[in-house]
Amino acid sequence: MRVLGIETSCDETGVAIVDTSPWEAGEPAGKGLLGQALYSQIAMHVDYGGVVPELASRDHIKRVIPLINQTLKESKSTLKEIDAIAYTQGPGLAGALLVGASVAKGLALALNKPVLGIHHLEGHLLSPLLASNANIQFPFVALLVSGGHTQLMEVTGVGEYAILGETLDDAAGEAFDKTAKLLGLSYPGGPAVSALAKLGTSGTYQFPRPMKHSGDLDFSFAGLKTSVLTQVKKNTQNGPLNSIDKAQIARGFVDAIIEVLVSKSISALKKSSMKTLVVAGGVGANEQLREALEVACQKEGIAVHYPPLHLCTDNGAMIAFAGAMRLKKNPQLASKDWGFDVRPRWPLDQLS
Ligand code: KG4
Ligand code: ZN
Repeated sequence: MRVLGIETSCDETGVAIVDTSPWEAGEPAGKGLLGQALYSQIAMHVDYGGVVPELASRDHIKRVIPLINQTLKESKSTLKEIDAIAYTQGPGLAGALLVGASVAKGLALALNKPVLGIHHLEGHLLSPLLASNANIQFPFVALLVSGGHTQLMEVTGVGEYAILGETLDDAAGEAFDKTAKLLGLSYPGGPAVSALAKLGTSGTYQFPRPMKHSGDLDFSFAGLKTSVLTQVKKNTQNGPLNSIDKAQIARGFVDAIIEVLVSKSISALKKSSMKTLVVAGGVGANEQLREALEVACQKEGIAVHYPPLHLCTDNGAMIAFAGAMRLKKNPQLASKDWGFDVRPRWPLDQLS
């Protein structure tokens, strides 16, 4: 089965074609990734310090068809060889989602092929299985850390997700982005804050570890951002932040957020008596998080898995792959219903 995946939930237009044969033969699913193309709109939104929804939708319209053609070429596939089309149905920006949904449904109607709406976070959640050396068995605990979400999930199978804990306010990626803004770094701030933190010394600034000892598996990052703001204000009383202060603040912020993410992940594994952790979403690319998780998981005898770095942030491969996995499990899910709706707000545990 060949599945074409289309992702347009935010500021990346992603397209990919996945073939299920290697995986049916017991090989890592990543071998079935025949081709993919991605266009990031980051440069367009950078001047605004964040994603402008209307600009995002218009750009998706411009990019999506050329990217589909590019992916078909790279995959040496024709449209006739595509067995099903998967697209991101939500959550995300309504206008941006509508672009992917209309293209997917229009194409499916023209080709008379089944089509399936995918939950964006399910795409992230399953993306570690695309790593070329992936050997991940269900059940596992997933730490989903992106620009819009921070959740710990219990994953017992494809489509079987229970939320163990989540953020009560800002998402981890959002906290990185807001801290970057306070430090005068450009959007998206995660990679920039992470790089700057490497130049700082731990302990110079000690920020709070919100909810680390709350006893549950929820997170809260709004207070951490406020502490960073307070420190920035103190350091700018007599002039702009110097580069040393910036690096020390970045280090203090990264140490605090990583400590909470790692500690809650380990608690989730212990509470659910599981030995496998899967990390997904944009913040999953963070070096300091990966290093700290390696150490903590090794100590606890836990195996930890990540998507390949280029598949941590939004992409079409994860949507094609999630579509293929869902259809393998339940072929009835794909429909030839050409009406479409998108779900800008869609809790993952409401996925039927
Ligand atoms: O998963 P993603 O591409 O989009 C959403 O679904 O939200 O995640 C984007 C988020 C942004 O907030 C970005 O700053 C963050 O992931 N991010 C990082 C890193 N790379 C991306 N945060 C920390 N360290 C990184 N290396
Ligand atoms: Zn995402």
